[in-house]
Amino acid sequence: MKYAPLLYFTLSSLATVAKAQESNMAAGSSATVASSGTNASPATQPNSNPYPTRAPGSTSAAQTTAAPSTPYSSSTAAQPPASTTLPSDKCTWDQKQIPDPVKLNPVASYSYQPESPNVQAPGAIDKDILKMVRGLTLEEKVGQMTQIQVGQIIDCNGKLNKTAVEYWVGKWKVGSFLESPGNRNGIYQWYSAEKFAEMTDAVQEVATKMGSKIPVIWGLDSVRGANYVKGAVIFPAGIATAATFDPQFAYDAGRIAAKDTRAAGAHWVFAPVLDIGVNKLWARTYENFGEDPYLSSQMAYSSVRGFQGDYKTDRTRVAACMKHFIAYGNPFDGSDRANRHVADHELLEYYVPSFKAAIEAGSATAMEAYGAVSGETVMLSNFYLQTLLREHLGFKGFMVTDWGEILSQVTNYKTARDPEQAVEGAISRTSTDMSMVADDESFNNITIALVKSGRISERRIDQSVARILQAKKDLGLFTHPFADKELQKTVGSAQDIKSGRDTARESITLLKNANGALPLKTSENVLFLGPTLNSSRYLSGGWNVHWQGPSEEEGDAVYQGFADTVLTGIKQVTGSPAKYMPAVDIDGTTKYDWDGVIAAAKQADKVIIGLGEHTYAENFGNIEELALPQAHIDLVSNVAKQSGKPVITVLVQGRPRLLSSIVNDSSAIINAYLPGSYGGLPIAEILYGKVNPSGRLPYTYPAHSSQASHTIWQASYVPYVPQWQFGYGLGYSTITYSNVSVSSPTLKIGSPLTVSVTLTNSGAYDQKEPVMLFTHQTYRFGYAPDNYRLRAFTKVALKAGETKQVKLTLKAEDMAFWDRNLRRRIEPSPVVVAVNPYTHPDIQATVQLEADPQHVLERL
Ligand code: BGC
Repeated sequence: MKYAPLLYFTLSSLATVAKAQESNMAAGSSATVASSGTNASPATQPNSNPYPTRAPGSTSAAQTTAAPSTPYSSSTAAQPPASTTLPSDKCTWDQKQIPDPVKLNPVASYSYQPESPNVQAPGAIDKDILKMVRGLTLEEKVGQMTQIQVGQIIDCNGKLNKTAVEYWVGKWKVGSFLESPGNRNGIYQWYSAEKFAEMTDAVQEVATKMGSKIPVIWGLDSVRGANYVKGAVIFPAGIATAATFDPQFAYDAGRIAAKDTRAAGAHWVFAPVLDIGVNKLWARTYENFGEDPYLSSQMAYSSVRGFQGDYKTDRTRVAACMKHFIAYGNPFDGSDRANRHVADHELLEYYVPSFKAAIEAGSATAMEAYGAVSGETVMLSNFYLQTLLREHLGFKGFMVTDWGEILSQVTNYKTARDPEQAVEGAISRTSTDMSMVADDESFNNITIALVKSGRISERRIDQSVARILQAKKDLGLFTHPFADKELQKTVGSAQDIKSGRDTARESITLLKNANGALPLKTSENVLFLGPTLNSSRYLSGGWNVHWQGPSEEEGDAVYQGFADTVLTGIKQVTGSPAKYMPAVDIDGTTKYDWDGVIAAAKQADKVIIGLGEHTYAENFGNIEELALPQAHIDLVSNVAKQSGKPVITVLVQGRPRLLSSIVNDSSAIINAYLPGSYGGLPIAEILYGKVNPSGRLPYTYPAHSSQASHTIWQASYVPYVPQWQFGYGLGYSTITYSNVSVSSPTLKIGSPLTVSVTLTNSGAYDQKEPVMLFTHQTYRFGYAPDNYRLRAFTKVALKAGETKQVKLTLKAEDMAFWDRNLRRRIEPSPVVVAVNPYTHPDIQATVQLEADPQHVLERL
């Protein structure tokens, strides 16, 4: 069943060049540093398995122990066949994961097939698929709708348990698996594509011979590159990608993640993450493209195109899964999965556009969101998952639940009496096609029983099965169910490393630069302090090797050389090792030799302090306070005051932690977000002026905890005075803006206007400048106007001394808003058209928006 390597996928040199030059050197030394004790390691975890098991409905961050992964351990319904020997009977392994021994030897570069301009998207179901559905038994159909997590087929020796595979695939006819064995007690910490594919291929062997004999579709959280595949480039987090203000980077990350995921034998990524991150306490802030609906939509579109390309014909691409539908990013108290209070018209205005864009880009699948919106759980909502997703947005792909979300209706949210009511509701009220169960047979048993008793119609089941099988066909699984060995050679190529680094280079955001503190000169005597400068794992955050990131015990050695640190980057840039002291640990619980730190700072010309957050994902990242740890704040203050030397703070963080006195105590501040496994060199390059920073904030950076949910688009009568505004950021050069003009004094439907502005780079450095067009309605009858709304942006490269005219388009249709009757219409008023208002407040014009307020552009 193997297929020949695709012709267009030409591999160039098989040399190891790339690795040696771009990555091994850097990360090899980071591994040495980690074990040499220079960065005294904080508390280690008792078990090397750093990822807690997600029990259905579990929201407790306290639940950190990995449950034994015997295939039948969490079964609540059917028991294993009598002949089966339970793997737990012969457990000898202590579940300590080991490094994957496969030596990677990636090609330096490769070519790929750009997609055609016509978007490939899910659509009508093919006749052969309809026929196939008709030929399946009820049990086989329900099996297709079932997704099981890989831990269920991992034996207690960390290897694939064939008996368990046969149990799930043969007996329960399961059509999908998810997750990385590296998260689920698999023997290796970080699975190479080769080892991963040995497992997925073995499962496909069984799936094509047993049960319904239909290949399984494997879903993987390749959210930032194929982050679970050894050596694959872990890209900057979504929030950093958004900060580039260049959607091409979202495309690149998607395309590369797709081929690396395929190389491992998985065909489906649970990405892009399109939640609008409103509450900055939220632990998933970093996974998204920020708070702005327009920026998010642009990134969403490119990202889906990158993942999918021509996914119906190109076997190097995957199915995307836009998630999490919907309004997940505004938990009322900031904790993950908490209720969100969002009126329907606000939902349509701010939270829906990024999903709409993903659908336009052809997203083959969608995932619903955990928890409730305005008290109604998404999982059981006919409005969110049928009216909005299917009827209004016209989504035709298949929809999967989030993890264990059907049973969570009973165990967690108390929105169903029992599992039967939960399953019945999820299937009959919504358009759920697949249940990410993920640990037991309950969904199969209950669904089969519900159909047999007539509570769910078999026609409804057929609809879902058809969507799933169509996706399998589109992805080529019926002809190519196995992993592509040729693709494995491209994982971690120099070309991909450059792509990851370029994204980081353009995302890092300079927030303050007093008295030309930056860039540094190589002649300066610089002292480097802080936990995030000497760590690869903090650069990537959660969803990095493991769900929760590498454990402290694994340390950076887990990367086996496929990552760098800021310190290794500094060495590359300056040619000599950085003078480094840890000073404080990542959580601010331990201070290291502060007397020595102050003494060393006094000897230096400047001090760089790297602060930020440890790795976390989902509810394990819940925090009560948005402020950085007090010891981080004190370190900056003590060093600045007691040494009198300029302090430059580098933030490596998933969300904008409050800085308090750090803002004044630092001469310069850089927000690096989570720049990914190769983010160290880009940070060093920016510090030394090899790269001129061009990232801009994709969120509002709060000054106080009361501003945790402030956004650029909040009602304008609420004062918007954050630490830094959405879109804010500096470069090393000076860009002057002049001659703003609009092509017409009036803005009407069908007559877009052009906004022109002249930019001159009057400084000494070449610079890339994101130019953003915002609008603000001076009043809006009955509905508080947004503070500012982003309507268009472009990123312009300006050489030192160069002048360019930039033109952006504004349409009256952009000014339409959703009212409480769920009609999209326009209220006329004078409109302020502003370009980068927070750095260039005088660059604005006023136009008259003319429209009939009764004219409805769209309705729900
Ligand atoms: C997350 C999803 C993820 C899924 C599978 C869930 O807990 O919310 O984003 O895709 O797990 O790992």
